[in-house]
Amino acid sequence: MITGGATGIGKATAQLFVQNGAKVVIADVSNQAENTIKELLNIGGEAIFVKTDVSKETDIKNLIEETVDHFGKLDNMVPIAGIGHPGTLIHEVTLDHWQQMLDINLTGVFLSNKYAITQMQNQGTGGTIVNVSSIMGDVGKTNQFSYNAAKAGVANLTRSLGVTYANQGIRVNAICPGFVDTPILSIADEEKRSLLISAHPIGRLGRAEEIARTILFLASEDLSFMVEANLIVDGGYTAQ
Ligand SMILES: NC(=O)c1ccc[n+]([C@@H]2O[C@H](COP(=O)([O-])OP(=O)(O)OC[C@H]3O[C@@H](n4cnc5c(N)ncnc54)[C@H](O)[C@@H]3O)[C@@H](O)[C@H]2O)c1
Repeated sequence: MITGGATGIGKATAQLFVQNGAKVVIADVSNQAENTIKELLNIGGEAIFVKTDVSKETDIKNLIEETVDHFGKLDNMVPIAGIGHPGTLIHEVTLDHWQQMLDINLTGVFLSNKYAITQMQNQGTGGTIVNVSSIMGDVGKTNQFSYNAAKAGVANLTRSLGVTYANQGIRVNAICPGFVDTPILSIADEEKRSLLISAHPIGRLGRAEEIARTILFLASEDLSFMVEANLIVDGGYTAQ
């Protein structure tokens, strides 16, 4: 199950999972997910779209129900859905903005984990969750208070869930990407984009497919002893 699978990292992840034999559920607010589903079916995949706002508890409950009705069980949950913003001085941060950023970027991840883990426990099969934090959950960035606070929350929610459920065969890890060339970065003008590129020692932004490969790796049995990691995938951004 992939939330935010209509575009960007989520879409690339859905494609890669399908190519590796997974049956995929895309949960997204955007109807662009319907095109993504068509593309997945065209490459021979099995995939359905369940329109979902990850910040709404009833939507997430319905998502799990529809998934189990359709595919019988849930093995891997990848909560990717998220939003960014161009940057706001603290005296301009309204409570509405703060709550929207936290509702989607943190509460949405909490709800996705809560109901996925409950389903995995009911199945008794174990499972994996790969949350999407960001290097912005670990380093400061000017005027990015709400986004960074939410992503730091995802990172530590992941650690706490990971240590709680490791002995039930449920691994909860997260990835912390550097800046990746997806629609979320359309909020950056050319000057900001160049600055972002130059902040990565690799000399470019990440590609959605590179992040998808890391997510697949974390979900695979190859990483069976990794139960609560925050894996940095950032072209060298944070090591400088
Ligand atoms: N692109 C980057 O530089 C970068 C870096 C680090 C982390 N991330 C994180 O990766 C994730 C994916 O971002 P992306 O870069 O692919 O951007 P994106 O804008 O292409 O994808 C975000 C997806 O989330 C969906 N979405 C937004 N609000 C939603 C909601 N309330 N309910 C359900 N779906 C919703 C959007 O419709 C979209 O399909 C986000 O959590 C983002 O914070 C991105």
